[in-house]
Amino acid sequence: MTDQAKLIVGKKEYVLPLITGTQNERAIDISQLREQSGLITLDNSLGNTGVCQSSITFIDGDQGILQYRGYPIEELAEKSTFTEIAYLLIHGNLPTRKELSIFSNRLNESSLIHEDMRHFFEAFPKYAHPMGILSTMVASLSTFYPLPDVLDPDAEEQFMANLISQVRTIAAFSYKKSMGEPVVYPSFRLKYVENFLNMMFSSPVKDYHQDPDIVRAVDLFLILHADHEQNCSTSTVRLVGSSLANIYAVISAGISALWGSRHGGANQEVIHMLERILASGGDGKEFIERAKKKNSGERLMGFGHRVYKNFDPRAKILKQACHKLLSKPGMNNPMFDIALRIEELALKDDYFLSRQLYPNVDFYSGLIQKAVGIPYDMFTVLFAIGRMPGWLAHWREMVHQEPFRIIRPRQVYIGKTERHYVPINERPEQNAVPV
Ligand code: ACO
Repeated sequence: MTDQAKLIVGKKEYVLPLITGTQNERAIDISQLREQSGLITLDNSLGNTGVCQSSITFIDGDQGILQYRGYPIEELAEKSTFTEIAYLLIHGNLPTRKELSIFSNRLNESSLIHEDMRHFFEAFPKYAHPMGILSTMVASLSTFYPLPDVLDPDAEEQFMANLISQVRTIAAFSYKKSMGEPVVYPSFRLKYVENFLNMMFSSPVKDYHQDPDIVRAVDLFLILHADHEQNCSTSTVRLVGSSLANIYAVISAGISALWGSRHGGANQEVIHMLERILASGGDGKEFIERAKKKNSGERLMGFGHRVYKNFDPRAKILKQACHKLLSKPGMNNPMFDIALRIEELALKDDYFLSRQLYPNVDFYSGLIQKAVGIPYDMFTVLFAIGRMPGWLAHWREMVHQEPFRIIRPRQVYIGKTERHYVPINERPEQNAVPV
């Protein structure tokens, strides 16, 4: 197999190296192309562009394969825990017992946020979206936990622990604020997920009963969301991080990118969609027909993916988890039946089949969160808690990789060619509108 590609432009031929990844993915390395030819490549929305070489997560979207550091997601979902996955993504290998204990202790030690930050929550309006609060508060961590001038390995371990642990505390505090209840502090006695659930749902007058099935479902949710290579928010983290901005500001930018309805915000939209279908008394057929019409303003939320052109393996795992959790007494949810029906209908419909639109991770994840008692507005916040190790792993990989350069894409300019300034009183009326 040749390890070069040839590009012919007019009468000139350019030889471009081919890069092969460890899973035999091949890419044409065009990094010298502009220097050699004056040409850049154009790839709107970067659907065909590899922006880095990474050893964190592998996805084969055609086969529906997802691996963290080489481990199949199905195995990790069955056997691992979120804390272990966080360690794996950031450090590259599963931890030994001792490494896990040190890592967990560091998370515990970092779980409180500075007491003065607690007062910030009082200033947000009651209706503030928790994603807005989360991105603000995470950026604010930069002021309370200033970074040393030199980021040595210990400083890196520390701010990573701060972010993984404190994001959960901030999330729970913002929920308590929205409920008008006093905050509940984290506790050394509790593990990562139990701690979060306790901060969310216990109160000075009521203990929270930890149901192992719920704890496991939340742990599974976080594992499945922990990384997904160069998605919109992770790419944002890499882009902002490449300017060497403060890491808390970098992660805050990632949170903002995740908020959008075409990305992490879709989990909330799925439940809104299912609720609307339930309220209309339909089984989803009508909604599917609407979602197929371009100008209806609707999409079948939780369906489709830029990379998966087959089943998203995370959706398969979450569907099974829904079956398990929602079959518990008192947890049945008619929206699950509608979701199953929609999946059945869509996967028989040529519109979805021909465009390779399958359920993605968000299709079933909202149902799990609803069963746990997480309010809708917080669905994407839980996604952010889960994605934190992935963002940090990518940031760390990028800043330690040679050559390290600021990310600065180019463009093909299609605006006006050079023209000259005309004083306002000499401009024709229709052009005098400010732009
Ligand atoms: N419902 C109906 N039609 C869809 C859907 C959908 N959910 N998704 C894509 N399509 C159609 C588009 O209209 C387009 O049709 P056309 O070829 O006739 O123009 C075609 O499928 C391709 O769609 P694009 O938007 O170009 O696909 P892209 O790869 O850019 O977008 C995305 C992927 C954003 C996930 C898209 O499928 C979508 O909007 N899905 C719904 C939102 C969602 O679930 N987002 C969560 C993604 S997973 C995550 O971020 C964690």
